[in-house]
Amino acid sequence: TRIHKVAVIPGDGIGIEVTAAAIEALKTVQAKVGGFELVFTEYNYGSRLYKETGSYTPKDWLDTLSRHDAIFFGAVGDPDVPDHISLWQLILPMRYMLDFFQYVNVRPSIVFEGIDPPTRCATPAGGELDWVMLRENTEGEYAGQGGRSHVGHPHEVATEVAIFSRIGIERFLRFAFETAQNRPRKLLTVVTKSNAQRYGLVLWDEVAAEVAKDFPDVDAMTVRMVSKPQTLDVIAATNLHADILSDLAAALSGSIGIAPSSNLDPTRKAPSLFEPVHGAAFDIMGKDLANPVAAIWSASEMLRWLGEDRAADLVYEAMKSSLRAGKKTRDLGGTLSTTEATKAICDLIQEIEVQ
Ligand code: IPM
Ligand code: MN
Repeated sequence: TRIHKVAVIPGDGIGIEVTAAAIEALKTVQAKVGGFELVFTEYNYGSRLYKETGSYTPKDWLDTLSRHDAIFFGAVGDPDVPDHISLWQLILPMRYMLDFFQYVNVRPSIVFEGIDPPTRCATPAGGELDWVMLRENTEGEYAGQGGRSHVGHPHEVATEVAIFSRIGIERFLRFAFETAQNRPRKLLTVVTKSNAQRYGLVLWDEVAAEVAKDFPDVDAMTVRMVSKPQTLDVIAATNLHADILSDLAAALSGSIGIAPSSNLDPTRKAPSLFEPVHGAAFDIMGKDLANPVAAIWSASEMLRWLGEDRAADLVYEAMKSSLRAGKKTRDLGGTLSTTEATKAICDLIQEIEVQ
């Protein structure tokens, strides 16, 4: 039996509900496929711990998480805590854990059968939007550089400095070119907005041109997300740009409730972290309304990263068939609760066969 130690951090809000859904799907597929065992250890990192102790995590969190093969995360955020505190104390430090190892954030978007306009905004027939957004995960505006001076004074100034390093850009873009090379269309679009920038994004363009020489069979193209989605394939962008673009990609494919994300350390020195793109969603938390698909798709991506391809395929196919059969939560125009949508997927995991 292959053992995979998984740290589970449900976090806050609907993160708790969708993490439970993902664990249920993982347990179902493990029982069906066999040959591997996921050993889950749950950690209570999150806003409740913060309110009790003044900190989102205990001091030893880095050592604790490092002892796992993967991390499954729900969401963070609380109505009583400013976002810049909760996010900078929990999810962002985890992405940077162990010396900036989780440097790629993979965010695929696909229009699945069964998700029709007007739920998704863009194009007439399903199937033509099939992208992998790659988000540089350690630099840019998320590097934590900046400050304020003359606080409270009318002439107060604040900076939020974007950091870009040659090593950081290059290791990320190599991953992007390899990802594009392994897909049928082999298209890579690098988004920089370098026309109005003079330093950081210009370095991005230069490094992209250098790395491209090692991948002669991959084309570069400009952004056409809304007008010609079928002309895009793999999209690589900076931390902040891809944060924004991945929300648009999720909306174009039907709902942010289905978008998964994998924070990967391609060197495999640190555990990678899997989480839905969506946040804690205070407006619907505790109401059994959240869409479990983003968390379940993230769980499938985690299985694939752990080498359990058959289990990963099964979870993914069950999720797709379930949507095709109209088993949808409200964000997708359906009527199912989180519990019902999760059960529909788990039932299909038990029923269907994949090669
Ligand atoms: C995301 C989120 C995060 C981000 C927040 C929660 C820090 O919006 O994963 O896209 O900005 O990266
Ligand atoms: Mn975001």
